[in-house]
Amino acid sequence: MKILVMNGPNLQLLGRRKAEFYGTRTLPEIETMLQNVAAELGVDLEFMQSNHEGVLVDRVAAAITDGTDGIVINPAAYTHTSIALRDALEAARIPAVEVHLSNVASRDEFRKLSLTAPMCIGQITGLGADGYEWALRALVRYLVSKKMNE
Ligand code: DQA
Repeated sequence: MKILVMNGPNLQLLGRRKAEFYGTRTLPEIETMLQNVAAELGVDLEFMQSNHEGVLVDRVAAAITDGTDGIVINPAAYTHTSIALRDALEAARIPAVEVHLSNVASRDEFRKLSLTAPMCIGQITGLGADGYEWALRALVRYLVSKKMNE
């Protein structure tokens, strides 16, 4: 099983962004943690991060034909602005789980709307870097039970 882990703009700066929202772990540290979880679950991970909306849109489109079974995505600021990323997720029809380190529901008004979440099977928000682990576990469980019911 192949899972694509996507991170949007400014998440390469984790570790130096506001710790009260985003914690202190860096993106490479989060990716190492996820590799350990993936080894336990027996799934393959591919990581990508981009600050560019079109690059994220292109990667979702490429996932349609490259054998990607599921997507863990933190679209970061594009969560609240990107109709293009939302449309890509809708067209791809690949099960995706949206992650936010911070509790977007308790922050600025403009962060309360996620354009991308309706195209995902679920959303994990406010649990810090551990949220990526819960997203991966939830996604794999979803994909396994979907396969069993096929
Ligand atoms: C974020 C929340 C977004 O509102 C913000 O723009 C980010 C990170 C999070 O993980 O909490 O860059 O997606």
